[in-house]
Amino acid sequence: MPGPGMELIDDDEIQEVLEVLRGGYLFRYGISLGSEVDPRFKGKVYQVEEEIARLSQVRYAVAVNSGTSALLVALAGLGIGPGDEVIVPGYTFIASMSAIIHARAVPVLAEIDRTFNLDPADVEAKITPRTRAIMAVHMAGNPARLDALKAIADAHGLALIEDCAQAFGASYKGRPIGSIGQTGTFSFNAYKTITAGEGGMVITDDEAIYRRCFAFHDQGHAPLRRGVEIGNRPFIGLDFRFTELQAAVLLAQVRKLPRILALLRRNKTRYKEMLAELPGLEFREITDPQGECATILTVMLPSAGVAQQIARELGTKVVGEAGWHVYNNMEQLLEQRMVTTACCPFACPHYTDKGGQMRYWKGMLPRTDALLARAINISIGVSDPGLGSGFGVTIADDLDVVEERAAQFCRVARRYL
Ligand SMILES: Cc1ncc(COP(=O)(O)O)c(C=O)c1O
Repeated sequence: MPGPGMELIDDDEIQEVLEVLRGGYLFRYGISLGSEVDPRFKGKVYQVEEEIARLSQVRYAVAVNSGTSALLVALAGLGIGPGDEVIVPGYTFIASMSAIIHARAVPVLAEIDRTFNLDPADVEAKITPRTRAIMAVHMAGNPARLDALKAIADAHGLALIEDCAQAFGASYKGRPIGSIGQTGTFSFNAYKTITAGEGGMVITDDEAIYRRCFAFHDQGHAPLRRGVEIGNRPFIGLDFRFTELQAAVLLAQVRKLPRILALLRRNKTRYKEMLAELPGLEFREITDPQGECATILTVMLPSAGVAQQIARELGTKVVGEAGWHVYNNMEQLLEQRMVTTACCPFACPHYTDKGGQMRYWKGMLPRTDALLARAINISIGVSDPGLGSGFGVTIADDLDVVEERAAQFCRVARRYL
């Protein structure tokens, strides 16, 4: 199974979905005739927004249909668009960049450090007069260096967007992730901590940003409209609405979060204890060991060659070669393949007239490349070949399976270390 939430689907999700189906309202609004809310409408989208806002310790949440659209909505909420640059790590899913590009802003790729998240020093070096935001992506369950990134953003008057797609449930120094930047976004696809098959959420504590996010996700409308509203729409939006069926599944999944986190953390701790004795093996730096989501264990081997041999024997790949999450493997980005030949935003006068000129190439982030070449991602609860975490355990595995798999890793690794 791809992720922990999907692995744990049971009667709880079934009952939630049946309740919605029996009521007959699959749409996020419960209006039938006039402006009365039909009692058969269950308001699951609204409930899951409230619940995730509460868990995230912010006032507002907007449920959307994917993590990608959550990012696009967040960018619209912040008013980021043509002529703007957003700094993003070179190790992330393409959605982080594609949302920026479809907002018609330009992604600026920055290096990661031993946290496998944004390197604050490189972020600072990449700031230009066009920079509007820093997108901190909390990769593989672990928060970026949020203190440093927030300080840089504040010092330069930039927005901090947290792409929390891969780390729902994590916290940073006591604060839930997503609540530290101006906006945070989540994904609920099958590879995430919890899932609704597809889905996303934007969170913010800022009412003006919330109203813009809501409007963008619902054709320009004000939050929680009661019917047809004309006259007050701030701009032209789109439709990224979540459905009652997805929200029903997600509500049941949210209730499983404490169990999911406890199991992931227990299994990761044991895995790490067993691997810790391997000479020359290092662990990814975790910015807040108490707050990590523990979906994946990232290890660094002394060299790319050693990492490749171990990965091959375990039937997996080093992170740099694994698949989707490395800028070097994103040909559509590297070659700036756009929907039309106008090549907006890269060739857009709003950008070029401000002195903007963006090129991407393989190898442009040498420190990121060096780290990913000697790293292996081990699944603790997220088995994603695109991340390289094809080896490891799932959340359904008992401690003895965890120990057996860790022992297998150690046996193979010892031959090369
Ligand atoms: C870091 C990151 N950002 C954004 C997304 C996009 O989420 P979705 O697949 O729900 O659109 C993903 C999904 O894998 C992701 O890993």
